[in-house]
Amino acid sequence: MGHRAAIVGAGHTRFGVLDAGPRTLLREAVDRAVASVDHGVDRADVGEAFLATLGFGGWQIGNSSAMLAEEAEMPGVATTRVENACASGGSAIRAAVGALERGEHDLVLVAGLEKMTDVSNARRRYWLGVSGDTEWERLAGLTFAGVYGLIASRYLSEHSVSADALAAVAVKNHENGALNPNAQFQKRISIEDVRRAPRVADPLGLYDCCPVSDGAAALLLARTDRAREFTDSPVYIDGMGAGSDRLAVQERADLTRFAATRWAADQAFHAARAERKSVSFLEVHDCFTIAELLALEDLGFAEPGKAGALTLEGATRRDGRLPVNPDGGLKAKGHPIGATGVSQAHEVFLQLRGAAGARQLPHPDRALTHNVGGAGATATVTIFSAS
Ligand code: COA
Repeated sequence: MGHRAAIVGAGHTRFGVLDAGPRTLLREAVDRAVASVDHGVDRADVGEAFLATLGFGGWQIGNSSAMLAEEAEMPGVATTRVENACASGGSAIRAAVGALERGEHDLVLVAGLEKMTDVSNARRRYWLGVSGDTEWERLAGLTFAGVYGLIASRYLSEHSVSADALAAVAVKNHENGALNPNAQFQKRISIEDVRRAPRVADPLGLYDCCPVSDGAAALLLARTDRAREFTDSPVYIDGMGAGSDRLAVQERADLTRFAATRWAADQAFHAARAERKSVSFLEVHDCFTIAELLALEDLGFAEPGKAGALTLEGATRRDGRLPVNPDGGLKAKGHPIGATGVSQAHEVFLQLRGAAGARQLPHPDRALTHNVGGAGATATVTIFSAS
C-alpha cells in the first residue's frame, strides 16, 4: 500500500500556562496551519473539520467542534469532536484520514485543543481523573501519577532497573525542550535535579511528570493525489493503527506492558509495509517518564526491561541512533490533553521537511507517533514518510 494521506500545513501555539482562552488558542493554531501551506489554501475548500479535546474544566463541554468552524472561519463545514482522553489527537487524525480515503473530501482540518490551567487544583484532579477508570481508580483516590507510580515501581523491581533510567528520560526531554520555542519548559535539568525533586507518587517525582498545560495545534490534510497542489514537500501518512484495553489497570494481565500500544503498532507497521529499522525518529507519549520506557518496548524498539539501558546509553537523544521526542515530549513541551497527538504530527511535519530549527535531526525520512489515552486504555500509532 502507498501513501494514505498527506499533511500539507501545520500550526502550533506555545504550550504552557497561558492567558489566552480556548477560542484564541484554536484560532491561532488554525491560522498558523493555513499560513504554513506553501502554495496557499482556500479555507472554503476544507470539506470537514475534526476537533480533538477532552473539554477540560467544562468549557463548552458539548458540541465544541462548532467552535472550531467559527474560529477557523469555515462557516458551514461539517465538524466532529473526537474524545479519546489523551489519545484524542491521534484518534482525530485517524478519523480525518478515513474521510479522505473514503473520497468524501479532498482537504480536511484537524485541530487539538485544551485549556487546563484556569481551574483549581481540585477541579484539575477531577478532570484528569475522568479519563481513568472511575469505579476502581478515581473514586478510590488514585490519580494518573498514582497509577503510573505503581506501574513504575513494578517495572523497576521486575526488571532490576535503577530509577536513574527514568531520570535519564526527563533529562533528555528537557534538553530537547530547551530548543523548542513552543515548549512549556525551555530549560535543561540535571539528573541530580530529578533525584532531588519533590515526590509526586513514588518513585515518580516532579520531573517524572508531564505538566498541566494550555495549548492548541492544527493540521491540514489532503488526498495524496492533490497534495502537490498545496506544497512541493508534503509529509505522507503511510500507516495507522489503534487499539484499546481494559480501562482499569487491575483488570489487565500485565501491569508493565500496554497491549493497546502493541496492537496499534503492529497494525500501523503492517499497513505501512514498513520495518522498525526504517524509522528515523519517534514521538512517543511520555506523560510520565516510565511511559516513555514502556512505549519503546511496546512499540517494538526494545526488548521488555531494556528501554532503560537504551536511554542511559544515549541512544534516544537527538544525536543517538533512535532519537525519541526531539520536541521535548509531553514532559518538557507540555501536555494540553487534546492538543498532544496533533502536536506530535506537527513535529513530524517540521522534522521531515527539515524545518525544525535548532532541534532539527539530520536527514530523517520516516517517523512514528504514539498517542495514549488514560493509563494505556487507548492508543494510536501513525507512521509518516517524507516521500
Ligand atoms: N515538570 C517540571 N516542573 C513542573 C511540573 C512538571 N511536570 N509541574 C509543575 N512544575 C513547576 C512549575 O513550573 C512551578 O515552577 P515555579 O515555582 O518555578 O513557577 C512549580 O513546579 C510548581 O508548580 P505547580 O503548578 O504548583 O505544581 P503542582 O504541584 O500543582 O503540580 C504536578 C505538579 C506534577 C502534580 C502536575 O503538573 C500534574 O498533575 N502533572 C500530571 C498531569 C497529568 O496527569 N496529565 C495526564 C497524564 S495521563
